[in-house]
Amino acid sequence: MNSKIKHTTKDIIEKDNKHFLHPWEGLGYFGNNERTVAAGGEGIYLTDSDGNSYIDGAGGMWCTQIGYGRQEMADAISEQVMKTAYFSPFNLTCDVPTLLAEKIAQMTPGDLNTVFFTTGGSTAVDTALRYVSFYNNAKGRPNKKKVISRQDAYHGSTFLAASASGKTRDKSYQDVASGIFSFIGSPNPFRRPKGMSIEEFRDAKVKELEDRILELGPENVAAFIAEPILASGGVIIPPKGYHKMCLEVCRKHDVLYISDEVVTAFGRLGYWFASEEVFEIVPDIITSAKGITSGYLPLGACIISDKLMAEVSGKESNDAIFSNGFTFSGHPVACAAALKSIEIIEKEKILEHVREIEPYWAKKVSELADIPIVGDIRTQGLMACVECLLGPENESSLELDYEMGSRIDKHCQEMGLIVRPFINMNVMSPALTITKDQIDDMFTILRKGIENAMHDLIRDGLWEMPAELAVSDF
Ligand SMILES: Cc1ncc(COP(=O)(O)O)c(C=O)c1O
Repeated sequence: MNSKIKHTTKDIIEKDNKHFLHPWEGLGYFGNNERTVAAGGEGIYLTDSDGNSYIDGAGGMWCTQIGYGRQEMADAISEQVMKTAYFSPFNLTCDVPTLLAEKIAQMTPGDLNTVFFTTGGSTAVDTALRYVSFYNNAKGRPNKKKVISRQDAYHGSTFLAASASGKTRDKSYQDVASGIFSFIGSPNPFRRPKGMSIEEFRDAKVKELEDRILELGPENVAAFIAEPILASGGVIIPPKGYHKMCLEVCRKHDVLYISDEVVTAFGRLGYWFASEEVFEIVPDIITSAKGITSGYLPLGACIISDKLMAEVSGKESNDAIFSNGFTFSGHPVACAAALKSIEIIEKEKILEHVREIEPYWAKKVSELADIPIVGDIRTQGLMACVECLLGPENESSLELDYEMGSRIDKHCQEMGLIVRPFINMNVMSPALTITKDQIDDMFTILRKGIENAMHDLIRDGLWEMPAELAVSDF
C-alpha cells in the first residue's frame, strides 16, 4: 500500500461509488463499480493504491506525452503557483500564457498565430465553432452556419462539441444542438465496400463532402471539422491524400477547415502538429489540448489564422466583441506546465524519438494480426488500434463485444497493462518516451489478453470460432 494514501483501497472505492460521477458513466453499474485506484506513476507506468504497477497503454486519455512523475514539472508548477497562481485574462495579461501563445504560434503551420486558451479539448472545439459562427455574422453572412462533421468523429462533451461528434453511441439519451451539424460517412478504409480500392474509397469520401456542401448550399456551409486521425472512433486513418483533397473542396466553396488536433498534436505523430507535417494541410483553425501539458494540468487551445482574425478585426470589426471566454483562459499554472512539457520534449528530443521508434511500434502491433479475432490493426505515430471482431460487421452482438472488451481489459490488467477498450477496439497511446523493450512488454501482454479473452468466450459457450477463422496451431 502506497504510504501517501491515507485511505484504504476499499474506502476509496466505496466513496467513489457514492459520490464521483465519472465521464461516460454506465448507469447500469452506477454505485457498484470496482475501479482501479490510481495512486502513483513513473514514466509509462501507473501504480494503483495496492502498489501494483501497470503499463498505461492508453497514456491516461491520450495525454501523458512526457510520462508520469517528472520532478522538474512539479518544480515548474509549484514555482508558478507561488509566483502568479492566477490573473484575470478578461482585463490583465501575464508572461507565461503570452510566451506559450508565441511558442505555439511558432509551431503551428501557415498563418495560424492567434491562440485562444481554453480549459480542455471540448472548450477548444466549442471556441472554434463559436468563432466560425461569430466570424460569419460579423462578415454579414448570418446564413453561413452549417458545419459538416463525420461519423465516428469525437470532438468533446460540451453541448456544441458533443453535437459535432458522430459516434451515435455517445448521443444515446442526450439532446444535441439542432440545425447546425450535418454528418458525412467515416473515412475508414477497413469498412469500404468490397471490391473498392483505397483510392476509389478516398475519392468517394471526398465527393461525399462536396456533394453535401452543394446539397446544403455553399452559402449556408460555414465549416468542415475533422480530426486528422479519428482517435476515439478507433484510430481511423483516412486514405493518403484525403485531407488535402477535402481542404481543396473547402477552399473551392469558401468553407472553413477546422483541424481537431486534440489528440494528434504535441508529438503523438512525431511532430508538434500533424496537420501540415503529416497530412500536408494548412487549415484555418486548429484545436488542441491533452498532450499540451502532458496531462499534468488541464489546458486547451484554439489557434486561429491571421487571415480569419484580420477579416473581423480593427476597421472590419464593426465594434464586435468575441464574447467567448473562461475564468481559466490562459491559466498561468497550466501554461507554465505546458511550457515545461514543451521544454522537456525539446531537450530530450522526444519528437525525434517518436519518429525513430514508430516503425518498431508498427511492426510489433502488426504482429497481432495472426490472432483469429483480430479484424483490423491501424497505427500511425505512437497511436494504434487493435480491432477485434467476433463475426462479420453488423452481425456480432454489441453485448458480446462489450463482454469481450471487458475480458481483454481484465486479463491485460492482471498481467500489468491498462488497455481500456472502446467496446471491441483496443486503443493504445502510451507516453512518448516508451522504449523498444517496453513496447515488447506491452504487446506481449496485449496478445495474451486478447487470446485469453477469446478462450474464455469459447469456454463459457458464449462464442464459437467460425471454421474460416480457426488456425491449426490454435
Ligand atoms: C479529437 C478530440 N477532440 C476533443 C476532445 C475533447 O477533449 P476534452 O476531453 O479535453 O474536453 C477529445 C477527447 O478525447 C478528442 O479526442
